[in-house]
This record gives sequence, C-alpha cells and structure tokens, in this order.
Amino acid sequence: MSTASSPIKVIVHGAAGRVGAEVVRAVHGASGMTLAGAVDRIAQADVPPLPDGVPYYTDVRQALEHASPDVIVDFSVASASLPMLPIAIGAGARPVIGTTGFSDEQVSYIDALCREHKLGGVLAPNFAIGAVLLAKLAAIAAPYFDYADIAEEHHEAKIDAPSGTALGLARALHEAHPERFSRNEPEREPLAGTRGGDYEGITIHSGRMPGRMAHHQVTFGGPGQTLTLRHDTIDRQCYMPGVLLAIRKVGELEGLTVGLDKLMGI
Ligand SMILES: NC(=O)c1ccc[n+]([C@@H]2O[C@H](COP(=O)([O-])OP(=O)(O)OC[C@H]3O[C@@H](n4cnc5c(N)ncnc54)[C@H](O)[C@@H]3O)[C@@H](O)[C@H]2O)c1
Repeated sequence: MSTASSPIKVIVHGAAGRVGAEVVRAVHGASGMTLAGAVDRIAQADVPPLPDGVPYYTDVRQALEHASPDVIVDFSVASASLPMLPIAIGAGARPVIGTTGFSDEQVSYIDALCREHKLGGVLAPNFAIGAVLLAKLAAIAAPYFDYADIAEEHHEAKIDAPSGTALGLARALHEAHPERFSRNEPEREPLAGTRGGDYEGITIHSGRMPGRMAHHQVTFGGPGQTLTLRHDTIDRQCYMPGVLLAIRKVGELEGLTVGLDKLMGI
C-alpha cells in the first residue's frame, strides 16, 4: 500500500456502469490516491470519456499487470466479480466491493481468498453513510417500541422487492428487539397484500415508480407517539464518501470486512 509519499493506486472494475463511472470521477478527484486504470467488459468507444491519461481495459488481467494496483473497486455484477476476485487478490489488489447479490458462502469464499493472500478487503452492501447511520439509529430506538414499519421506495426498474437494504434494516431491528414486534392483522382483507410483508412483525412496504432512486423510512409506534427515521438517496454521489473511506482503510485490514459501519467505528 502507499506510504505518506506514495498515493494508493486504484483500479475500478465495472467502470462504465452507473456507480462505477461515479467511482472513476471520485477517485480521480480524491487526495492520497491515484486512478491507475478503468476496467469494464464493454468496448471503450461506448464508455464515457475517462480522465486524461487513465488507461482503459476490457481484460482485468491486463489491467492488473500494467497498473499493479493496491486496491480494486468493484461495482459490476456478482457473476463477473466471482471469477475476477481470485485473479485480482492473487495479484495483490485489495478488493473494495460494492457489487451486491453474493450468497453467505460466496462472502466466506472472498474472505478466505483475502486471508490466503494476507490482504484486507471490504464488502459493503450499502456505501451510503446516511443509510448505515439509519440502521444504527433505528437499532438504538427498536427496544423502546412495540410496532415498527419499514417503507422503501425505488425506481420502477428495480428487480427485487423488498430492497436488500430494507431486509438488512429489518434484521437490525429484530436483533435489537428479539421479540416479534406487534402487528395488526386485519379481520377482513378486501385487497390481498395491502398490509405489506411481515418480518418478525415488522411490516415492510415497497413502492416502485419512475422519479425515485432509493428511499428508506423506519417508523416506530407506541401509545401516543411515533418516531420516524428516513434516508433518501437522490444521487449516486452518496456512495462516494463511503467508497473513498474504504479505499483509505482497506490497507489496515486483514480478511474481508463486511459492512461500512465497521470502518466508521459505529
Ligand atoms: N454497495 C452499494 O452501496 C451499491 C450501491 C449501488 C449499486 N450497487 C451494486 O453495484 C453493482 C453495479 O450497479 P450499477 O447500478 O452501477 O450497475 P450497472 O449495470 O450500471 O453497471 C455494471 C457494470 O458492470 C459491467 N460488467 C458486467 N459484467 C462485467 C464483466 N464480466 N467484466 C467487467 N465489467 C462487467 C457492466 O458492463 C456495467 O458497466 C450492482 O451489483 C448494484 O446492486 C451497490
């Protein structure tokens, strides 16, 4: 890894994607690191222009060979990350992974790869610092209330419902409130599904339509009061402070750290 005088060398895998392109801009503009390459499977002609002098690769092996990066940031798809990671980690690049969709076994496999090569890695299902704080704040509140609702809203193209973040929030609430939350079950349900999903008594509602990005709201209820906590993602820039934090910290780690909260010390 870099020293005080040498910047951290970073390459971005999935660099032509919506988040990857944002990471390219953020790393290029950040202090203490240098963007040593951008990798994606699509032809360079179809990729928005890269910052001057940043090489583009469609082959990750070539990128690793030419750039010898300290860190590889990955925002692609799990089916592309899984074959890429042993190559990158084997070449000494510490992974900072934003890609979602890994099974528990696959996460353990990535951890084992990092440990085998005595490297750190970071995998964060959500790099938005505000979303991580929402989960922490909600977990603090959970033991004090008997009712909890999660309402999440996303764009119309999202393939899953509820969102992984909403499920993660529900798990965090249940951990902090091990008894099932109270939940009203209607005596009559003229329209099926209207009460939403049920995770240990936590009701989850998912809204999907254009004009939205990613929004999560947790509402707690008790006699005479409610408490509402909400996080809104309105631009993919929201992930960048978390990604830059992970790039700066990954050199101090050994094995795979899962979750940005661990790096934030909360
Ligand atoms: N952790 C977080 O905070 C966070 C936030 C947003 C999105 N995500 C996740 O990040 C990933 C990317 O999201 P996106 O919205 O940028 O998607 P996207 O489809 O815009 O970008 C994915 C990129 O990966 C590239 N890619 C696919 N297969 C490849 C391969 N074999 N080799 C090289 N590149 C390949 C694609 O060409 C594309 O440019 C998804 O898994 C998404 O769920 C995570």
